[in-house]
Amino acid sequence: MLATASHCVRLPRILRSQQKRAFGDIVIPPSGKPAIRYGPPGRSAVTGNVATVFGCTGFLGRYLVSKLAKMGTQVIIPYREEDAKRHLKVTGDLGQIVSMEWDLRSEDQIEECVRHSDIVYNLVGRDYETKNFDHDAVHAEGAARIAEVAARAGVPRFVHVSHLNASESSLSKFYRTKARGEEYVRGAFPNATIVRPGPLYGYEDKFLNNMAVWPIWWKLNHAATTVRPVHVFDVAQALANLQDVASLPGTFNLPGPSTLTVDYLLRMVSSVTYRPPSRAPVLPKPVALQLARAAQAVWWPALSPDEVERRFINDADLPSDWDKFGIVPDEIEEHAITYLRRYRSAENFTRPVVLPESRGPEVWVQQS
Ligand SMILES: NC(=O)c1ccc[n+]([C@@H]2O[C@H](COP(=O)([O-])OP(=O)(O)OC[C@H]3O[C@@H](n4cnc5c(N)ncnc54)[C@H](OP(=O)(O)O)[C@@H]3O)[C@@H](O)[C@H]2O)c1
Repeated sequence: MLATASHCVRLPRILRSQQKRAFGDIVIPPSGKPAIRYGPPGRSAVTGNVATVFGCTGFLGRYLVSKLAKMGTQVIIPYREEDAKRHLKVTGDLGQIVSMEWDLRSEDQIEECVRHSDIVYNLVGRDYETKNFDHDAVHAEGAARIAEVAARAGVPRFVHVSHLNASESSLSKFYRTKARGEEYVRGAFPNATIVRPGPLYGYEDKFLNNMAVWPIWWKLNHAATTVRPVHVFDVAQALANLQDVASLPGTFNLPGPSTLTVDYLLRMVSSVTYRPPSRAPVLPKPVALQLARAAQAVWWPALSPDEVERRFINDADLPSDWDKFGIVPDEIEEHAITYLRRYRSAENFTRPVVLPESRGPEVWVQQS
């Protein structure tokens, strides 16, 4: 059931008389729709906002849904596969997470998902092409369809997640279609907020995890490609903060705070995991492309030729817009251990126990 103003009148009279409310607490900007905030702060609060998160079942989506639900926002989670959204149900209080089946090609289903919402997020994206959806269908046409339907349904705010390297002139089809998607979204929803994060890292990323498991694919270009990695929590928080902003039209870059070479990151992964740096050869680009093409014969997602192309493209050197979202992004070194600890070699446990000179003989500390 949707959270409406009618919930508030059911509050006990004593509680109502004690609550102080400002204008911003009773009206959702910029629609003017009434929204009464009540309850204790945190998970059991009610902000009165309703948000739809397309792409909620992905890596970034789970953190955004969790942050919105924790504030007390009701979140509509469109899903394709039953099991893909199960973990999201418990991120919010009872009734606050509403799942709805959808198909990117169905305008009716998109309309069903957005019609009660006052903010819609589009996080839909895919690293590789599939039998049914190429990059254009997902990043350009799909984004345009969601934005058009949201505009038609009278949704006041639309947030689209693109990529830092989106460019019409890129060698990568992924980046070209991301740029086209931005253009279509601007056309369909002129007040849309378009955010362009750098490569994301976190528990479920395809960045640090992939470096730990498949360093050979990161040694392409002699690991000289420069990247601007950003913590998934920071991007999710930036997106969640938009909930309280009346309108923020424009395109905003959200890269990580530092520009690093892949070589530096591989060395960092190696030192955190106690594993020697990979001695795999550096594959020449044509060989890597051929291998990636051959790998497309398997039915599970394998590194695509376009991803190989992207490993040769430096992250765009664009100014960041974090200040607009009230966030200072974290450095990757602060979090690397959290996500890489699981790859530590058995050496972690077999290293000799050393006795630090500064301690007495009764205190034994394992070297870390
Ligand atoms: N991860 C990064 O490093 C990074 C960096 C910059 C920008 N971005 C952008 O940020 C957004 C979220 O990234 P992510 O890492 O969370 O991606 P992700 O883990 O791959 O998740 C993508 C989401 O899009 C949905 N999706 C993909 N194709 C779809 C289709 N044909 N129809 C309906 N839904 C579809 C997926 O739904 P299913 O679960 O049903 O497949 C999933 O919920 C994407 O737009 C991505 O391009 C990501």
